[in-house]
Amino acid sequence: MKSPVLSSNSAMAYLQHLNAMGVSSVPKPLKPVVTESPDKDTLLKELAQEARSCRKCSLYKTRTHCVFSDGSSDAELMFIGEAPGRDEDVQGVPFVGAAGQLLTKMIQAMKLKRADVYICNVLKDRPPGNRTPSPEEMAACLPFLEKQIEIVQPRIICVLGSVAAKGLFGPQVSITRIRGQIMEFQGIRVVPTFHPAYLLRNPSAKTDSWKDLQLVMKLLAE
Ligand code: URA
Repeated sequence: MKSPVLSSNSAMAYLQHLNAMGVSSVPKPLKPVVTESPDKDTLLKELAQEARSCRKCSLYKTRTHCVFSDGSSDAELMFIGEAPGRDEDVQGVPFVGAAGQLLTKMIQAMKLKRADVYICNVLKDRPPGNRTPSPEEMAACLPFLEKQIEIVQPRIICVLGSVAAKGLFGPQVSITRIRGQIMEFQGIRVVPTFHPAYLLRNPSAKTDSWKDLQLVMKLLAE
């Protein structure tokens, strides 16, 4: 409904009427309360701080750095690996060692820049000696990954390797069976592929891996 517009004469008459009724002042309208929600970078910073202080498993005792993420919080594509290795633990950045360098090349082959994607791991702390993460460590750390996905809201997730695939889809999945398929996690399409460390050991698997990345590119272009 349109609010009535008073002419200056009738407005004056109305104020005089109010005054005659004993109303000497008109309260100022309250300012609407605007609650701005924090942006993605702020939310991720807070989450990273939470991860740094997390004591749900014992990996914090042996790590150098908690390795939270790299890349853009606005990324359309998220890569999820297993856990930091030695180089990552030292530098505090995921995928910077030999496997990380291959991942960077894979990203570039997709005509993307590393800075434009979001890179993280299931575990935020390095398991000593790069051993496979235990199911308890995975369960303790998974809420951080779920929250990262919820905040970044990528259009596509590319899961790297068996451990990350099991982290998202359960211990029964086999990366060789599910790679190259389109799966779903938290309503987001997920393409699992081989871990770059596996590709370094098994270069012949690069052909399949490239097919998976091409599928990711196709989904991103849709
Ligand atoms: N392997 C991973 O899974 N993640 C890293 O960050 C480095 C190596």
